[in-house]
Amino acid sequence: MEKIRTRKLSHALGAEILGIDLTQPLPADTFAQIYQAWIDNLIVVLPGQQALTPQQHLEFSRRFGELDRNESSPSYRMKGHTELIELTNKPTEEGNPSPSRDVGRRWHSDLDFTLKPTKASILWGGQLPDVGGDTMFANMYMAYEALSPGLKRTLEGMHAVYDVMASVRPQDNRDPKVVAELRELNLPVAQPVVRVHPESGRKALFLSERAVRFEDWTHAESQPLLRYLCEHATSPEFVYRKQWQAGDLLIWDNRCTIHQALGDYDKRQVRYMRRTAVQGEPSGHSVQA
Ligand code: OGA
Ligand code: MN
Repeated sequence: MEKIRTRKLSHALGAEILGIDLTQPLPADTFAQIYQAWIDNLIVVLPGQQALTPQQHLEFSRRFGELDRNESSPSYRMKGHTELIELTNKPTEEGNPSPSRDVGRRWHSDLDFTLKPTKASILWGGQLPDVGGDTMFANMYMAYEALSPGLKRTLEGMHAVYDVMASVRPQDNRDPKVVAELRELNLPVAQPVVRVHPESGRKALFLSERAVRFEDWTHAESQPLLRYLCEHATSPEFVYRKQWQAGDLLIWDNRCTIHQALGDYDKRQVRYMRRTAVQGEPSGHSVQA
């Protein structure tokens, strides 16, 4: 059995694995090692996958579990592929601005605003600008563990209410039609603020800038604690900033990380990414807005 070699990418999270070519068959035992490295490091990067086809991306992703069909945001789907989305600023074939050009600019966990938050997201960097277009990730195990015993006790059993509209910042250049679609398809849900990771058994803080209040709390009461927890969780010591190379494939665990797409690049240059999402366990419940 050949053992994969991992290199840590930051203190908080992330590991790189070299020598994998996903255009070739991947033995079960190599996949098992990649999977374990992913559970242990929260993020795994497989560089050098420039030639990865949409079909190969889907096949690799399915080894992590059943794929999400992107019913909460159909506009991002790649033509002819329900389970693949394109995140890009590149105009559409019809010459319209890309519907996904400003996705993910607030800290979030994928599909945290639904009753089936994502398990794994698998993002492929197809084309990157000369500089920037980075993504930031935060380790939510560390964020949880660093809280005081008193705040941990307070958060136990609490739920936060997510509103998909909170993912859209006023300064983002979002397509009003896409925003209306997001609103229509995604009603508010409440998610536990502390989740036990089903595979590691560790507790993680589960909270993001898409949470608008705590359940049974008013907005005004919720704001200071929400803001504190998001600021705390995204402290530099819990964060890794990914600087992309074309051909990088990055797998992150949404059950114990949050992330943010920075948009820190020259928008006249193309950034083109594709991704799948592996379905997580059902979580949370519906609430009134
Ligand atoms: C995502 C996402 C980040 C990026 O794919 O869910 O938030 O940098 N993308 O494109
Ligand atoms: Mn995302």
